[in-house]
Amino acid sequence: MSLRLNYYGHSCFSIEIGGKTLLFDPFITGNELAKGIDINSIKADFILISHGHSDHTGDAVAIAKRTKAMVISSYEIVVWMKGQGVENGHPMNTGGRFGFDFGTVKCVNAIHSSTMPDGSYGANPMGFVIEYSGGAVYYSGDTALTMDMKLIPLMCPKLTLAVLPIGDNFTMGVSDAMIASDFVECNNILGVHYDTFGWIKMDHAKAQKAFADKGKTLHLMAIGETKEF
Ligand code: NI
Ligand code: MN
Repeated sequence: MSLRLNYYGHSCFSIEIGGKTLLFDPFITGNELAKGIDINSIKADFILISHGHSDHTGDAVAIAKRTKAMVISSYEIVVWMKGQGVENGHPMNTGGRFGFDFGTVKCVNAIHSSTMPDGSYGANPMGFVIEYSGGAVYYSGDTALTMDMKLIPLMCPKLTLAVLPIGDNFTMGVSDAMIASDFVECNNILGVHYDTFGWIKMDHAKAQKAFADKGKTLHLMAIGETKEF
């Protein structure tokens, strides 16, 4: 089964699997580059939130309220969302795996920080491995390169796609993301978390060549683009 992925800018994207749409880290209205995206057109049955920072949660409450999507995140973020009037949540924590109707979610370690937009505690940041019939996707969330990524091939099936931050400064940059792709044993990478702010502007051609020179593919999608993997 091929994987359909819609990119909404920064680290916000959705995947369509098992007839359901999983939206990750909704941040659109605060992103100047994504002003062509109408957040009311974004579909979601589930919203997965990696950590509390506003560039990952900015539109989470609005989209969750409109779509009635179930929020899957850390316990603390699900409780915070409830405080914002979002009742439909499934709390998890690092290391946990749970089966949903679309497949399973495993929460994996991320090395970063996590505070909610209002300053509330946002728990530990996480990445997710989504297993579905015919494949698996790893979304690392905001993270540094970490040795823990080597555990993913031991715990999860062969990855179809790894979604990794590549913008540097706040997260891994290109060279660390290439090592991460070795650690998770996936040569098909979607780059996220670049260009949005001045500090993470990136040379696209140079980044794609660096991956290609190692026999890997770095996908960089246009905001609003849909692609099959
Ligand atoms: Ni962050
Ligand atoms: Mn971020």
